[in-house]
Amino acid sequence: MVKICCIGAGYVGGPTMAVIALKCPSVEVVVVDISVSRITAWNSEQLPIYEPGLDEVVKQCRGKNLFFSVDVEKHVSEADIIFVSVNTPTKTQGLGAGKAADLTYWESAARMIADVSKSDKIVVEKSTVPVKTAEAIEKILTHNSKGIKFQILSNPEFLAEGTAIEDLFSPDRVLIGGRETPGGQKAIKALKAVYANWVPEERIICTNLWSAELSKLAANAFLAQRISSVNAMSALCEATGADVSQVAHAVGKDTRIGAKFLNASVGFGGSCFQKDILNLVYICECNGLPEVANYWKQVIKVNDYQKNRFVNRIVSSMFNTVSGKKIAVLGFAFKKDTGDTRETPAIDVCKGLIDDKAKLSIYDPQVTEEQIQRDLSLNKFDWDHPAHLQPLSPASKKDITVVWDAYEATKNAHAICILTEWDEFKNLDFQKIYNNMQKPAFLFDGRNVVNPQKLRDIGFVVYSIGKPLDPWIKDLPAVA
Ligand code: UDX
Ligand code: ADP
Repeated sequence: MVKICCIGAGYVGGPTMAVIALKCPSVEVVVVDISVSRITAWNSEQLPIYEPGLDEVVKQCRGKNLFFSVDVEKHVSEADIIFVSVNTPTKTQGLGAGKAADLTYWESAARMIADVSKSDKIVVEKSTVPVKTAEAIEKILTHNSKGIKFQILSNPEFLAEGTAIEDLFSPDRVLIGGRETPGGQKAIKALKAVYANWVPEERIICTNLWSAELSKLAANAFLAQRISSVNAMSALCEATGADVSQVAHAVGKDTRIGAKFLNASVGFGGSCFQKDILNLVYICECNGLPEVANYWKQVIKVNDYQKNRFVNRIVSSMFNTVSGKKIAVLGFAFKKDTGDTRETPAIDVCKGLIDDKAKLSIYDPQVTEEQIQRDLSLNKFDWDHPAHLQPLSPASKKDITVVWDAYEATKNAHAICILTEWDEFKNLDFQKIYNNMQKPAFLFDGRNVVNPQKLRDIGFVVYSIGKPLDPWIKDLPAVA
């Protein structure tokens, strides 16, 4: 029986291993983590992450060929294939601060593998890492080994949160990179055999190590670039009277461009896009390619611009001050169908409003109060470290309340900001909400969830990203 061990029971490791266990009944899969609370949750009825369809998959395999354990060393030493899916934060200090990946967790995982291994192993990079990480890991493993052979593979994960299970069941492609040596090719074949249990052969792409590592960064950079492109257009739409949804529809009809991933928004978030682009920028700079670095940097700049623009629209529309005003924030997760808040645009928007002394009442169907308070008191980039290593600045707790209902959040509010496109926000009783708000009642839609005309008919002053401006807002000086 092939034994797989995955180090890191997070958003990538957990769902990916659960699907491998489901699709490969003859493979034993153990997911290990140093976080006792995470492993306890994976072994309970309340999984540590919310992902549609995940509960069913875990229920079907847990205790059969899928196990979650804190006994990291035991399972690593017994495994044939070890996936490494640990955090790779952005460095906040020293060389490459603010851009380069901090490989502390990766390095300690690699050293531990070297220490405890007693047989040959395939080590697979699953979490996104900078190009050439495999080379560094290879050095750590081979310099410590006692005649044991390690093969390093890069097998980046392309799942998107909220659709992780669908993406894993039917991936557009599986990418496996390895050394172009007989040993490397043998390792690729072994990993390919695992995926071949359910992924059609033509969708499994095999490349060299560096291509696989770079492809992951490139794919995320291209995806993020699309959003920054449409968001840049949204600003121009507002200035000209064009409607960004109509523009995106027309543009996306060109089959060379395609219709997906063209929704203008308050900005992209998530654990990958910003981090991966910063990484790409750093690699370009290190390789003497400043023009290429600056090109990709602009994708992040436009994203920051979009978040600032949104805050400025709110403040300038509300008589240039939100001080002491209650603002209801609907949605905090970085996208719908996940409870994940890593790099969510809601953090920057909320911080911007708090800086202007607003009182926030926040509601998200999946994010806890503890998480929101923590996110709003963390420094940039600190989220990707274990909780005990996250220094918290004293949060202005008095300015934030977290409630469990959109109607409660909006009661007596001066304004509503929609920051996540949860389906339930489309079907709220906006007449009832309007009746219970201060007047004029403002609604700022950062996800184009509501029909602006219907809400204007009720009496709201509405701002929707990239849509023709409300007469109220149009008369105000342009902001950015
Ligand atoms: C992304 C990649 O899609 C995935 O392939 C990779 O493995 C990890 O990074 P994820 O971050 O989970 O996945 O979600 P994604 O659906 O890509 O959304 C990222 C952000 O972009 C979200 O904040 C989302 O709201 C935003 N977005 C997405 C838009 O603003 N407009 C769009 O049209 C699409
Ligand atoms: P991702 O979104 O890439 O899955 P997460 O931050 O959700 O990232 O998960 C990474 C996991 O890796 C965390 O649960 C963390 O506790 C775990 N981890 C980090 N270093 C180690 C290590 N040396 N051994 C075991 N687990 C580790």
